[in-house]
Amino acid sequence: MSSFYEQVGGDAFFADLTSQFYAVVATDPILRPMYPDEDMKGAAQRLQWFLAQYWGGPTTYQENRGHPRLRMRHSQFSIDTAARDAWLRAMRTAVDGVEIKEDLKEQLWDYLELAADAMVNQPD
Ligand code: HEM
Repeated sequence: MSSFYEQVGGDAFFADLTSQFYAVVATDPILRPMYPDEDMKGAAQRLQWFLAQYWGGPTTYQENRGHPRLRMRHSQFSIDTAARDAWLRAMRTAVDGVEIKEDLKEQLWDYLELAADAMVNQPD
């Protein structure tokens, strides 16, 4: 069985997904102020590395950033349900914009929804 990473086409897929995601983040009134002004490219790179690694690709994220500890890394940002929903909306646009098999899309989306819920760190 090949990994999810291989089935979707490897790095090219994750680069495409994250660049579409960050194109929406760049214009979103809730998300834009949370992301670093000068380092949107770097932010896109980190998310791309993480997702590729999570889905069975190379461990570039770990090599460059160490253990993900994503909830901890997000604790410096104030993430309420509105921010989570904005993040998921941007991700939905990106997922809709890529061409992979529908069952793989569903698998990816289910994970992203759960992960986004887990990142909420502020009560409404
Ligand atoms: C729920 C809403 C979320 C918000 C508002 C949010 C916001 C942010 C922000 C502002 C950053 C800093 C950008 C940077 O310089 O790298 C960041 C980093 C990151 N986020 Fe999120 N995020 C959310 C959910 C998620 C989810 C669900 C994932 C994974 C599936 C994720 C993965 C990452 C990764 C891998 C980094 C880079 C961490 C590092 O190595 O420093 N985020 N996020």
